[in-house]
Amino acid sequence: MISIVGAGKVGSAAAFNILRFRISDIVLIDVAGELAEGEALDMMQAAPAIEFDGKVRGTNDFSEMEGSEVTVIVAGAGRKLGMTRPDLARTNRKIVESIVKQVVKYAPECKLMIVTNPVDAMTYVAYKESGFERNRVFGMGNILDTIRFRSYIAAELNVSREDVRALVMGEHGDSMVPLVDYATVSGIPIKDLLEAEQIEKIVNLTKTSGSEVIKLKGATTYAPAVEIAVAVDAVLRGRNRVMSVSTFLQGEYGLSDISIGVPVVLGKNGVERILELELSPEAQRHFVESASIIKAMIDTYGYT
Ligand code: LAC
Repeated sequence: MISIVGAGKVGSAAAFNILRFRISDIVLIDVAGELAEGEALDMMQAAPAIEFDGKVRGTNDFSEMEGSEVTVIVAGAGRKLGMTRPDLARTNRKIVESIVKQVVKYAPECKLMIVTNPVDAMTYVAYKESGFERNRVFGMGNILDTIRFRSYIAAELNVSREDVRALVMGEHGDSMVPLVDYATVSGIPIKDLLEAEQIEKIVNLTKTSGSEVIKLKGATTYAPAVEIAVAVDAVLRGRNRVMSVSTFLQGEYGLSDISIGVPVVLGKNGVERILELELSPEAQRHFVESASIIKAMIDTYGYT
């Protein structure tokens, strides 16, 4: 069973994806209890059509997260047009801290996934507040950046998205680092298939894609929601997926006392291990810049 805290657009769409993929029963928790109950009831009414025989319930009672294998924190303010993710730090830190206190009380053994932005600083806050081992606390940010990176590569090459594999690391934000050197189409490096200008265009589209959606419809929904389901699936089914999540570093990549997106093996225990890649001088420089941006956020708004 998993708990999702925050029954807004992303949280409820994530819940429905998890049901649709028949990954797990769900408790959808929101301070607006009727919203959570209504979303759960709506999904249950859809359940026969997606051949889901499990349970989904909505509540404002945090005690119902008891026994959750994974708890996903989505709750918090979302970006408005013109805002950056760091602009949300002051408000969302208090929300995340208060929810983590409930997680520690009712689901002390769970793996804790943070989606609330700015996700790297909020993952740091959740790690510090929870007192959990670092492998059990991770942030869903770069896997969302990665599917956007993959979709733009596929569009530029007019190839199946399924055959594009890639990684993004660093801040889930403007300083993110799409790893061009590790992006392939069926194993073929994209650098062998695209001109430098095309690659630069794809990297810029990836970085601004969330803001583009916010400009058009006010908030992102489907892309974060489906990636929450992918990450929950990796943990619940112990799939040892290789993807980039925000996690607390203790010397990896030369960094400590920071939560930042890095490639990991994600499985039953959460972050099973961190993968340290050889980065090009340019990627290394961008990654260090990204880390300093997150550090500044943590020092200003994080857990201190
Ligand atoms: C986005 C939010 C989840 O990038 O940060 O859509």
